[in-house]
Amino acid sequence: MTEAVWTEVDAYFSSLYAQEDDALAGAVRSGLEAGLPQIQVSPNQGKLLQILARAIGARRILEIGTLAGYSTIWLARALAPGGRLTTLEFDPKHAAVAAENFARAGLSDRIELRVGAALDTLPALAGEAPFDFVFIDADKENIPAYFTASLAMTRPGGLIVVDNVVRDGRVADASSEDGAVQGVRAFNALAAREKRVSASALQTVGAKGYDGFCVLLVEGAA
Ligand code: SAH
Ligand code: DHB
Ligand code: MG
Repeated sequence: MTEAVWTEVDAYFSSLYAQEDDALAGAVRSGLEAGLPQIQVSPNQGKLLQILARAIGARRILEIGTLAGYSTIWLARALAPGGRLTTLEFDPKHAAVAAENFARAGLSDRIELRVGAALDTLPALAGEAPFDFVFIDADKENIPAYFTASLAMTRPGGLIVVDNVVRDGRVADASSEDGAVQGVRAFNALAAREKRVSASALQTVGAKGYDGFCVLLVEGAA
């Protein structure tokens, strides 16, 4: 099977299950026009994140890595009434584009965007904890640290989802010197021995090539 087939099948499923409205399509377009990297989750992946967050009745969501706010919009629309989402972004230019997209989506009242390196902005979020759902999708070298910080702030029964855990299969290469691959591998080793979570990783192909999510359930009574 070729990548062209994956993309065609992804488009087929998206057309059925994950149609973009003006706010989502506008988020992609604004990122393109502003020269942002086109690395947002695919429509189907956004829908999956939304379903997972809805399934646990999420009222507090944390996202690490905003970009133009595409995944943020999928997730904010999962919030139960009165719910709030906090999203962390390092690059002020990305944050400015995202803020416009949240306004256009009518979600500014539910989304708090914090600009800065996530390692610096995470500690101040303890007051907003516990979170029900966390999506980790920023720099891959720091995934272990983001996971540790997220776990400390997620309620029992909550979910943590980590993007980009496959990277064209490079994750299986223990000798890789790619810092992103090492970050993902260090995270997987940490998660696998962490008794407070139950984890599974899902390989995905489609519009974003060959990659995947790690989904972790925080153990304990909900
Ligand atoms: N979640 C988005 C895509 C995020 S891309 C979506 O699917 O729509 C990764 C983002 O993480 C980029 O915008 C990048 O600027 C940001 N980022 C990189 N390093 C970061 C850091 N140290 N702290 C916070 N954000 C960071
Ligand atoms: C990259 C980052 C991502 O979060 C992603 O989903 C795809 C690619 C990257 O940095 O190349
Ligand atoms: Mg990603």
